[in-house]
Amino acid sequence: PLPVIFDGDPGLDDAVGWLLALGSPEDLEVLGFTAVHGNVPLDLTTRNAGVVLALAGEAGRNVPYFAGADRPLLREGVTAASVHGATGLPAAGLPEPLRGPEAGHAVDFIIRTVRARPGEVTLVPTGPLTNVALALRMAPDIAPLIREIVWMGGSTGHGNRTPAAEFNALVDPHAAQIVFGAGVPLRMIGLNATMQAVATPGRVDALRALGNRAGAVCAELLTFYAGVYRDRYGLDGGALHDPLAVAAALRPDLLDWQSMDVQVETQEGLNLGRTVCDLYGVTGRPANAQVAVGVRDGAFFDLLLERIARLP
Ligand code: BDR
Ligand code: CA
Repeated sequence: PLPVIFDGDPGLDDAVGWLLALGSPEDLEVLGFTAVHGNVPLDLTTRNAGVVLALAGEAGRNVPYFAGADRPLLREGVTAASVHGATGLPAAGLPEPLRGPEAGHAVDFIIRTVRARPGEVTLVPTGPLTNVALALRMAPDIAPLIREIVWMGGSTGHGNRTPAAEFNALVDPHAAQIVFGAGVPLRMIGLNATMQAVATPGRVDALRALGNRAGAVCAELLTFYAGVYRDRYGLDGGALHDPLAVAAALRPDLLDWQSMDVQVETQEGLNLGRTVCDLYGVTGRPANAQVAVGVRDGAFFDLLLERIARLP
């Protein structure tokens, strides 16, 4: 199995993605969860990491989790409670975390884990890239040791939080630009792909019909989320952004990829946080990322359902 650290801001779609990971032991060795500010403040994203582990039962029992950065590198924090609820996990009857977060900072955990297994560790960030950028700045020696970074964020086209910018890119654009400039093999799963992976009412029913607690919780979270996606984006349910990034780590063949140069706009203004994707190679700059440009959505959802079914 692929050794992976999941870094994110749960956040209901992060939570569904992390459950997909915990239900996939033959493909993924979950080394730890690291929480970052984002959808809700850091104290809540950290606690929610513990809740996800408790939901996974035996699969989550020995997985450590850590608190990371509580704000972006330079800008003020931005949250998304209207999309994810005040706590980040809008579902009733969730379990308490079995234990608290580990002592020490998420960034130190990332650095020592990558150094301990050179060339092996994949990072799957599904939130603002603050923790990952800090790790690369504090320990530049880890850049050539990271197997790959598989990030949910950005877009080849339009944004969601502003017309130009996707939420994770917008919240910490400076961190994103550091990561895209670090020379680490990188995959970007942006809105152009994730908005095609929608939790339609039929899919939510299928999760609920699994009959286990994890399926019921996913269904409840995605039902909350669907309202926002119908009203704001005209979709027939919430977009499965972060679960698609987790799936990309375990089954990259579920997406189509194109190598290109990606730069992140860090200037204040209309385009702040835009991932400027050189789709046609017009800059002549070498590619720094493989960007998801297509998704086999049916096969992706079948995988998600199969793996959530295995949890308690
Ligand atoms: C991303 O923003 C967050 O609100 C979601 O969790 C996802 O990671 C989508 O733009
Ligand atoms: Ca997220």
